[in-house]
Amino acid sequence: MHPAPNFLYGTAWKEDRTAALTELALRVGFRGVDTANQRRHYHEAGVGEGLAAANRAGIATRADLFLQTKFTYQRGQDHRLPYDPSASLPTQVAQSLASSLEHLATDYVDSFVLHGPSSSYEWTGADAEVWEAMRKERDAGRTRLLGVSNVSLPHLEQMESAHSELPAFVQNRCFARMGWDREVRSFCNEHKITYQGFSLLTANPEVVQHPPLIALAAQMKATPAQLIFSFARAVGILPLTGTSSAEHMQQDLASLDLTLPPELVRAVETMAG
Ligand SMILES: NC(=O)c1ccc[n+]([C@@H]2O[C@H](COP(=O)([O-])OP(=O)(O)OC[C@H]3O[C@@H](n4cnc5c(N)ncnc54)[C@H](OP(=O)(O)O)[C@@H]3O)[C@@H](O)[C@H]2O)c1
Repeated sequence: MHPAPNFLYGTAWKEDRTAALTELALRVGFRGVDTANQRRHYHEAGVGEGLAAANRAGIATRADLFLQTKFTYQRGQDHRLPYDPSASLPTQVAQSLASSLEHLATDYVDSFVLHGPSSSYEWTGADAEVWEAMRKERDAGRTRLLGVSNVSLPHLEQMESAHSELPAFVQNRCFARMGWDREVRSFCNEHKITYQGFSLLTANPEVVQHPPLIALAAQMKATPAQLIFSFARAVGILPLTGTSSAEHMQQDLASLDLTLPPELVRAVETMAG
């Protein structure tokens, strides 16, 4: 069983390159892999093929890995559904995870995430029903941990006030202009929830291209992307990267060895908002 990883390799939008890129990411050194049973954006079976190839090549076995997948409501899917849309939500959750385990050729994942609540405004009855079904999957041993994605502070506060079990992970797009999702991160800190941040580079061009940040990176003999990932970890964010480049994979992992002075961490945290 793998402990929580320090970086997650994201497998979205890779289509027929998914298997090769997943294998490459493991070869380069990633041990955490993020996917979803949402064929519209992910090719989960391709992730499974990549894991199998890495296993055969002696790079990593199942026990070395942290695998995370997601349940996606029909609204977020195309016609390639991993469940019967006429079944109840709890049945859809069970069918989706069973299909993920088949794709990944494993009998458990490390984290099972609700891809997004059914409403942007509130934690609905449907979400509560899905969450309860996800808890049952966890209790049956088909996932070690649970998470929620694309959530706001009100979603989390509503979960808390309804006395729902809180997630082990929150996975959000992290906008620098929102203080890098300051409010949600602070709720996560208070409740010992690990915050996973995605689109750290693509959502924040104003920071990545900010001349002072570029100059600082050069001074540290690092790239702006490395500085952002290193900053993320310094403020407690578990970063995702979806790079398709071997060189960027290496650079992203190498950012784990960079230590930023505290005043620089504070400066980046407030650079855009
Ligand atoms: N929960 C959700 O709703 C949700 C939504 C979106 C994404 N995700 C997850 O998050 C993962 C990552 O998505 P993302 O939006 O953060 O990234 P991404 O868009 O998949 O990739 C990052 C982009 O930045 C570029 N880049 C340039 N330098 C880089 C460097 N040093 N390291 C990394 N990228 C560099 C990459 O180009 P190169 O390929 O040329 O490096 C790529 O175009 C996804 O694969 C998915 O697993 C989850």
